Amino acid sequence: MSGLTENNSSLNQDFRRHLLKFTEKTFDWDAFPSNRGFADLERAQMRFIGSGGSPKVNDSETLKPEHFTLSLIYKHPGKYAACHAHEIEEAFLVLDGVLTVGWEEDGVVVEAPLGPKDMILNAREIPHGFRNAGVTPVTMSVLVGVGKPLPPRYLYHPKDVDADLAASFGARDGQVLRVDPEGQHPLQRMMAHYVVRYDEQPTEWTAAGFGRKIYVGEGGAPPSTARKEMFLIPPGTGVKPYTRTCEEAWLVLDGHITVGWEEDGKTIERQIGPKDVFVSPAGRTRYFRNDEANAATVFVAIGSPLAGDPDYQPITT
Ligand SMILES: [Fe+2]
Repeated sequence: MSGLTENNSSLNQDFRRHLLKFTEKTFDWDAFPSNRGFADLERAQMRFIGSGGSPKVNDSETLKPEHFTLSLIYKHPGKYAACHAHEIEEAFLVLDGVLTVGWEEDGVVVEAPLGPKDMILNAREIPHGFRNAGVTPVTMSVLVGVGKPLPPRYLYHPKDVDADLAASFGARDGQVLRVDPEGQHPLQRMMAHYVVRYDEQPTEWTAAGFGRKIYVGEGGAPPSTARKEMFLIPPGTGVKPYTRTCEEAWLVLDGHITVGWEEDGKTIERQIGPKDVFVSPAGRTRYFRNDEANAATVFVAIGSPLAGDPDYQPITT
């Protein structure tokens, strides 16, 4: 059994505040007041870091943001989000289901269907919407690239435009194209740079024995305000404590890992599992390992586009 190790109490308290268990959080079905009265727009939000995506503020159960916000969105089949734009980049990572994301330009919409562990980085000011066109619910994470985003600017909200136009994200006369790196429309090609699919990204194996797929950064979508990586952590592997000069947020997708902090020779650690979030602020000495029989997959957001890679040192278990 892997529980909290009782140690230095301030370290203990700070650690607990930065470890957010999915089972102890709740979804908010009324996070988006502009959607009230529009059943097709229904979605629920669970906040982990900051207040991105919703105008609600002062939520005491979320962590204060440094360089990004992190939340989960849950959407039933057939529901969509109206096409909007904002001043900052925003990453959607699919956890469950199939999500269709559309980008709009002058009445043309380019769509990308995304499955579990696929991501799109919605570039700044690009009008975008999304829908669950599948038969199972979609759960996705939303990571916004600043601590305090401005509210979205809606371009095709059903309160302003015809319901069919809103549901198609603003596509006029059926002008819907699919994302394509060699497509004829420039938006098809541009969007292709911002879509990252798990099964198309190479895995780079570190000396510490775990794998990394780069999602945002060199080899992935263009880096802007934060880097994002997928870690593949085999059973029995892990790293010795390391320090970074920027914050890291970990969102577990599969399996369970033990995460910990070290300070003045003392450590505190706990095991986390699917949809749990663990944040290490800048300067914290942190480590992880997989004590279980199954591999773990973890999405990692790193709070600076310029952050170098730590010198990951393997542990022996
Ligand atoms: Fe957005």
